[in-house]
Order: sequence, then structure tokens, then C-alpha cells
Amino acid sequence: MKLKKLGALLGAGALVCALGLVGCSGSDASSSSSAPASSGEAADEVVLVNDGKLTVAASLDFPPFENLEGEEAVGFEVDMMKALAEQMGLEAEYLPSTKFDTIIPLISAGGKADVGVSGFTITEDRKKEIDFTDVLIDSNQGVVVNPDSGYTSADDLAGKTIATQSGTTGYDWAVENIPNANVVPYDEMTAVFSALQSNQADAIVADLPVVQYYVTNAYPEMQIIEEIPTGEQYAIVVSKDNPKLTEELNAALEELKANGKYDEIYAKWFGESAQ
Ligand code: ARG
Repeated sequence: MKLKKLGALLGAGALVCALGLVGCSGSDASSSSSAPASSGEAADEVVLVNDGKLTVAASLDFPPFENLEGEEAVGFEVDMMKALAEQMGLEAEYLPSTKFDTIIPLISAGGKADVGVSGFTITEDRKKEIDFTDVLIDSNQGVVVNPDSGYTSADDLAGKTIATQSGTTGYDWAVENIPNANVVPYDEMTAVFSALQSNQADAIVADLPVVQYYVTNAYPEMQIIEEIPTGEQYAIVVSKDNPKLTEELNAALEELKANGKYDEIYAKWFGESAQ
């Protein structure tokens, strides 16, 4: 079911109501059920791609936030999405891993996934295209190099080749802050690390918790030479056509923060309490 422009449906829905073809309840804000596209319900209802499910698009290459363990999506944000969905009376369902830089267009086009959750930093540019929920967690950038590279800070990287993930804030940071760098975008974080390991790149710039995870678990010889305090904040990406979903996710998030579930999930992945 494709639900692209709720604006158009509003008109259709009003017409259907006028003809008395379907039950046209008022705009009761408490409902978390889905509004089937065919009934043309208004934008004050949550719209879902699949009834009863919160369908999630994610680039599953971003541990400890979202990663694949066999076929299964795991991570801090995966647990958060499961808990948020449950809080809303829904079940979280992950699509197969989706290329990071295609997720925002996919969410704004509608019809495939209800939310994009992939360590998405809130930015003014992105806000023009989609809505963000309230903040899930804070993050920064980090710079990674090979052992014995001689580089000790980002200042040493002018004119060098920097591996980043396509469409990320790390890519933007490198382009804007490392003079004359050759900033190379890769589709997947795994490819970003392979590029450094095979000396196709001199350094990586990417989200700090993720590079810490990769270095600790897969590339212990590599070195994180700098933490860049970009002060980024991750949030869930929702279509601008689905404001009620953003609202309900925010209400559910507030509840999980109040009832201790958020802290529990945080401690599971980061080994300490959030506060
Ligand atoms: N926080 C960065 C951004 O929003 C990087 C996110 C990359 N996410 C991923 N799942 N690979 O641009």
C-alpha cells in the first residue's frame, strides 16, 4: 500500500466521509492503530506501511547501534525500536539492510518503511526533507589511522585520502575541515575499514562509538587518534506526511525514559547508566 501524499488523501477522505461510505470518526489523538491508505483517513492518524508493525529501514553496519548477527538485527537502536514499538502496541520489523544514503529518500517517498533508524544525526539540512523524533542518544566523530602511520591528529591529514561513509556527517566533516583532503565515500562501514586496512586510505572519519566498536572488535591494531566533539544527536527519521507517528514515538520514548527501560537498554549496550 502506497501512501505518498496525505494531503491529497485528506481531500479524498473528506469526500468519502461526506458520502457516508466508511465510519468517519473524529480526530481522536489517542489511537496508535494504523490507518489503511484505502480508507483515506486523515493525517491525524498514525499511518503504517503494514498493520500492527513498525517497519524499520536501517543500514545494519553500525554497531553498537545496529548490526547484523546472522540474519538478525541487533544493537542499541534495535532494542530501542523494539521497546518503542511494544510501547505503542506494535511489533518492530526490520527490512533487509538498506544503504545509508538511500534511507531518507525512502522514508520521504513513503510506502516501504515507517521509520529510518541508523544513527541518524539531527541536521538542519535533513530536517528540510524529513522529521526527526526527540533524541535517542548523543555522539561525536572520531579519526582512525593505521599503526605507525605517524599521524597524531586530524591536522596531520591535509591532502590525505580519508575513508568515510557516503551521505554521513563524517563525510561532511572531513570535506569541511581537512584541507585538500581526498574524501572518499563508501556505501558500508565495513568497506570504510577495509579501505584503511588495505592502505587505500590514510584515515577514517566516522562516528566515534562505532569506530571504537570496530577497532576494539575487529581491528585492534588500528588507532583512534582524535575524538572530534561535534555534539551530534541521533534520532528516528519519520516522513513529514506522518506527524502523528513522530508524536507517538516521542510519547513512547518519554515513557521508556521514565520507566527505566531506556536505562536498561543503554546499560546493556554501553555498560553504564545513561545519566
Ligand atoms: N551519524 C552519522 C550521520 O547521521 C552517520 C550515520 C551512519 N549510519 C549507519 N547506519 N551507517 O550521518
